[in-house]
Amino acid sequence: MIKEQFENEMKLEFTSKSSNEAFARIAVAAFVSQLDPTIEELADIKTAVSEAVTNSIIHGYENKQGIVKICGKLKDNKIILEISDSGKGIENIDVAKEPLYTTKPNLERSGMGFTIMESFMDKVEVESIVDVGTKVTMEKTIKKEDLLDEEELKITTKE
Ligand SMILES: Nc1ncnc2c1ncn2[C@@H]1O[C@H](COP(=O)(O)OP(=O)(O)O)[C@@H](O)[C@H]1O
Ligand SMILES: [Mg+2]
Repeated sequence: MIKEQFENEMKLEFTSKSSNEAFARIAVAAFVSQLDPTIEELADIKTAVSEAVTNSIIHGYENKQGIVKICGKLKDNKIILEISDSGKGIENIDVAKEPLYTTKPNLERSGMGFTIMESFMDKVEVESIVDVGTKVTMEKTIKKEDLLDEEELKITTKE
């Protein structure tokens, strides 16, 4: 089997309306479907995207108008997602990432957004500059279980 050598890339830009959170999550799911993820892997990615996009909308732009950007890349069987805004930025990233930490407790935020992203994705990196914006980069490798099974089958039939 010949492996594709070039990487696949997509970019999305949309207005910071909370109704676009579903659009973003579904668009990313459609893109990553090319890697044949399991339903669980797909659900994990959608949840992580949803948390990052919601953060840009409610914390970054505080529901004012702005643009949220998503850059998605597929490299072999890995998806790399960059979700960014040009909003208010985060003063202390380490503190913001702590479980239960939220600057909007009155909005019934759980403070678990970053913890959820970290537990559902393999890698999460946050870059932010106050009054400039925030970029969250996440990666997840899609396990090729079916392929493994097929290969194992071939080996057994050969013997
Ligand atoms: N894109 C962003 N722009 C500005 N601040 C952010 C952004 N994302 C997260 N934050 C800050 O990090 C905190 C923690 O985020 P998170 O773990 O998702 O919890 P929650 O959204 O429930 O507050 C937020 O309360 C907010 O202060
Ligand atoms: Mg959040």
